[in-house]
Amino acid sequence: MKQICVIGVGYVGLVTAACFADLGNRVYALDIDEKRIAKLKQGIMPIYEPGLKELVERNMRAGRLFFTTSYAEGLAGTEFVFIAVGTPSGANGEADLRYVEAAAKAIAQNMTAPLIIINKSTVPIGTGDLVAEMVKQAQPRPIPFSVVSCPEFLREGSAISDFMNPYRTVIGSLDREAAEKVAQLHLPLRAPIVITDLRTAEMIKYASNAFLATKISFINEIADICEALGADVKEVAAGMGYDKRIGPYFLDAGIGWGGSCFPKDVLALIYMAEQNHVQPHLLRAVTKVNYDRRHAVVERLAEMLGGLQGKVIGLLGLAFKENTDDMRDAPSLTVVQGLLERGARVRGYDPVAQETARPLMPQVEMFDDPYQMAEGCDALIVVTPWNEFKHLDLARIKQLLKTPVLFDARNIYNPQEVRSLGFKYRAIGRGFNGG
Ligand code: NAD
Ligand code: UGA
Repeated sequence: MKQICVIGVGYVGLVTAACFADLGNRVYALDIDEKRIAKLKQGIMPIYEPGLKELVERNMRAGRLFFTTSYAEGLAGTEFVFIAVGTPSGANGEADLRYVEAAAKAIAQNMTAPLIIINKSTVPIGTGDLVAEMVKQAQPRPIPFSVVSCPEFLREGSAISDFMNPYRTVIGSLDREAAEKVAQLHLPLRAPIVITDLRTAEMIKYASNAFLATKISFINEIADICEALGADVKEVAAGMGYDKRIGPYFLDAGIGWGGSCFPKDVLALIYMAEQNHVQPHLLRAVTKVNYDRRHAVVERLAEMLGGLQGKVIGLLGLAFKENTDDMRDAPSLTVVQGLLERGARVRGYDPVAQETARPLMPQVEMFDDPYQMAEGCDALIVVTPWNEFKHLDLARIKQLLKTPVLFDARNIYNPQEVRSLGFKYRAIGRGFNGG
């Protein structure tokens, strides 16, 4: 058993804290957000993540997981401290490091014994060195410490299983002893461990996210070519995926990527390249291809309906992906804006993201039930591929709609089946004009 402190109890920090506790460690999860911590102490989760509430409660009951707003309490007796605070986009696409810097300072001011400080947040290349310098400067008296990079690769919606079963653990440090200790901590995860220098570890994280975003933009461009030439992108992706050099994952064409990570991390990598006189041609194109898709969905729906003025459009799903309540850079935000600009009235339904979405799209009429939402709509758009949408009673939906128009922007339905019910149906890249 080791004692760990995790700073920041968001999507990554809370999952990290709960999972390390579940592996038998004693974990202090720390946040400056007092409301968040007060709620967590009562077993109320600040985010929706499948299985998280049960995991947190189990480990609180077992006396392995504690919540605090006090750095002094969180750091007392701790050997490892993980920084898992947000690194949002700054004004020019750079990563905003203010929360990392504040955490580094607070660690420096409150540490009373040697520490291994582990950057789990996604941070620009060179941040490990910056954190080391900041801690050194802010310490009231010198206490030894080491800074290690250990980027996180979990996905929202499957965060616990991703954390517990990673493809690899990346550890960046030139302090071999510290790297070995962090490696020991991760041994129960039984994943290959890559030990490298700090900057390389930081870059592995950005390169991985940028590659996955590229893969999705690639298949989306192929989808558009499929539409023009009468091929089916789902079958193309499946056929490509058997090749182990390509792999079957992250080849789902649709409305493009969103969320709190791909958008900001691709932007931050572009920024780092430009600042260092490298032209990131590919990454710029990957981003443009992605954001164009959101507008294309609105344009294609307008074509289907012969204009959007006065039309009532229902959105099936608002979150940036399924199994999460996260609305950060969700494609639905752009779609709503585009629909409203063209004079449509917009309705929304999401199994869990409704409350996070509501303040971000006040003009959207929210419904607690997809069938109620469908009643009187001129068209529905599948924006988020929630499982429950795959099992909707489409015959009933058709009866409820004013006109039976369905735009499946996530390719979740079988085109033949939907058409046989009498829908005017369009998907993404599934034969001529989207299938
Ligand atoms: P988040 O916004 O959900 O949570 C960040 C938390 O940090 C908040 O609760 C905030 O109150 C807290 N915080 C801010 N400043 C603090 C401080 N000085 N001291 C203590 N707490 C502080 O963020 P997130 O989505 O969990 O992302 C965290 C980092 O992990 C980012 O760098 C992100 O890129 C990276 N990451 C995220 C994911 C993901 O799926 N969300 C996956 C891998 C990596
Ligand atoms: C992504 C990465 O997958 C994680 O490895 C990484 O840790 C995380 O970013 C991060 O750094 O924060 P996440 O954004 O939670 O995870 O979710 P993904 O499942 O990767 O989906 C990202 C976006 O791409 C979503 O909008 C999703 O709908 C979209 N997507 C995904 C597609 O359009 N097609 C696909 O085939 C896969």
